[in-house]
Amino acid sequence: MSLRGRNFIDLSHFERYELRRILDTAHDLKRKQKRGEPHELLKGKSLAMIFMKSSTRTRVSFEVGMTQLGGHALYLQPSGTQLGRGETIGDTAKVLSRYCDAIMARVYGHNEVVELAEHATVPVINGLSDLLHPCQIMADMMTIEEHKGCLKGLKIAYVGDSNNVSNSIMQGCTIMGMNVTIGSPKGYTPVPEILKRATELSERYDTALEVVNDPYEAVKNADVIYTDTFFSMGQERTKEKEEALMPFQVNQALVDAAKKDVIVMHCLPAHRGEEITDEVMDGPHSVVFDEAENRLHAQKAILALIV
Ligand code: CP
Ligand code: NVA
Repeated sequence: MSLRGRNFIDLSHFERYELRRILDTAHDLKRKQKRGEPHELLKGKSLAMIFMKSSTRTRVSFEVGMTQLGGHALYLQPSGTQLGRGETIGDTAKVLSRYCDAIMARVYGHNEVVELAEHATVPVINGLSDLLHPCQIMADMMTIEEHKGCLKGLKIAYVGDSNNVSNSIMQGCTIMGMNVTIGSPKGYTPVPEILKRATELSERYDTALEVVNDPYEAVKNADVIYTDTFFSMGQERTKEKEEALMPFQVNQALVDAAKKDVIVMHCLPAHRGEEITDEVMDGPHSVVFDEAENRLHAQKAILALIV
């Protein structure tokens, strides 16, 4: 199926060849940008960006991405729009669709971005919900390909709190043929709904998918170690959760327990000294800033293909 006109909300809605097409386009657009070759594929197009939560990378990479594609992006916050005064998501979606060619939204409840898409007549992109962060994982897979040359057959170990990022890793990386291990303490493992779907994907794509409660077991033979904050936006900070997650910190000892040439990833923002140490984040295995850069290229590819 063509990607044109499609929403980009949940990676499990895509086939491998479709994600492959996005990744190939992302690598191509990155090459063009580095060489200074024009690629104004969205001349005259506008993207509405709704941010219910804070953002540095998503906001800047989407806005700059639209500019580089010859289009324009609008930054909308609830406090500055009628959304903050109670205009419904449905009405907002219908109105924005009359002006803009796509809508990107960062929301709290995943149902909010789904509702937006139900009412919009232009493609809707999930810029992070409490359940999923699909754009992040496209940039991550692009980064893994740059450093490892492929995806299929590699082992990615996500260590820490099971959250929107690990959920999208379970989907996207599995679809692309990677073996995924989630290492999380009991009580902070993936939600059953997402795990079930990811398990179906792993059967379909013949990959390994496992959830373990020991960080060292998780990273054994890993090609990629990935972590994220213990407390996602909107979550309450508790001592209990912090104590459960501290043994899952990505530190040098944990990195040493993986493959020699393991790469370390983090979607950022990092809480240095908490889920990851300075030594690892700034060390030779870390690719976190390549990963951040690739948000730009991966999202340009998504925009160019769906708009
Ligand atoms: N990784 C990520 O989505 O970063 P921001 O919260 O800064 O957008
Ligand atoms: N899991 C984090 C990701 C931030 C980019 C959060 O939702 O806050």
